[in-house]
Amino acid sequence: MEQIEVSNSESDIRTIAVLTSGGDAPGMNAAIRAVTRAGIYFGMKVYGVHDGFKGLINGDFELLSRRNVSGVLNLGGTFLRTARCDEIETPHGQREAVRQLNNEGIEALVIIGGDGSMAGGQALIEKGFEKVVGIPGTIDNDIFGTDSCVGVDTALNTIMEAVDKIRDTAASHSRAFLVQTMGRECGYLAVQSAMISGAEMALVPEDPVPVEEIARTIENSYKLGKKHCIIIIAEGYQVPMVELGQKLDKMDLGFTTRAINLSYIQRGGTPTSFDRILASRMGFKTIQLIREGTFGVMTALQGGKIIGLPIVDVIGKHRSISEEYLQISNILSR
Ligand code: F6P
Repeated sequence: MEQIEVSNSESDIRTIAVLTSGGDAPGMNAAIRAVTRAGIYFGMKVYGVHDGFKGLINGDFELLSRRNVSGVLNLGGTFLRTARCDEIETPHGQREAVRQLNNEGIEALVIIGGDGSMAGGQALIEKGFEKVVGIPGTIDNDIFGTDSCVGVDTALNTIMEAVDKIRDTAASHSRAFLVQTMGRECGYLAVQSAMISGAEMALVPEDPVPVEEIARTIENSYKLGKKHCIIIIAEGYQVPMVELGQKLDKMDLGFTTRAINLSYIQRGGTPTSFDRILASRMGFKTIQLIREGTFGVMTALQGGKIIGLPIVDVIGKHRSISEEYLQISNILSR
């Protein structure tokens, strides 16, 4: 049986802070809970920062107790709240953030968020606050180096349920549906959703296709005697969904076309067991890294293990989509 390695090499860190930043993702609360409870277990004082980097710049801290994180494991969103914060990209914002951390006596900072949040962490490191550990939390799964980010599995389940419902109405009306998923420039959610919902096609920014090919897919589905055709389109796809839908609807393809953007419902909801486990393991690992004195890293899931990866090796890199998954779902949907 594999044992949890609880490092004995205690660093002298006694006071840490945790924040959530960027778009919320289900499981962020579970990650805050894990950081807080593991931190307290190992003798640390744990502060929560409200509203992400915005709250950090304004010095909006709250001391967390074990009880503050009771009953949050199953909640979507983030009880510390989050924000988009352009100021953290400026030298002034970064200096203010470091000043607030030093002023509050915070020795290490835990950042839960996406690629932009990790970049914010790296900026603080470069401004002199070096003791930063990141936890990848975003539904987009666009962060390089980790098999999954906290929130992705829940979002996929939400998309799957939504597409199952859309299929009912699509089949009843003999329609083709374009279903838009989130993910910025990354097609991960679209590819995975196509496979789990049996969609006929996934349109991803990494691999744009001519509109004629999309039309052919719809027409072929009709000719094959299918009752509907579902196409998942990533939000970052080169042709906007509404424009594409209008073009397709004007063609004689057998099915008429409708389009739906699943939008923000993908970010909500109670986290799945996978996301709760991932968040708990990453939160716990974060405290282990802090205790060992390993900083400037992000926790990552690789082949079932949680490891620490240098943040500089992660930010700004594109996570490629799985060609294998695309191919499998293409074959299986025929
Ligand atoms: O990064 C998460 C995400 O939901 C993206 O998929 C989406 O493009 C973006 O955030 C939306 O951002 P906002 O919440 O600022 O509208």
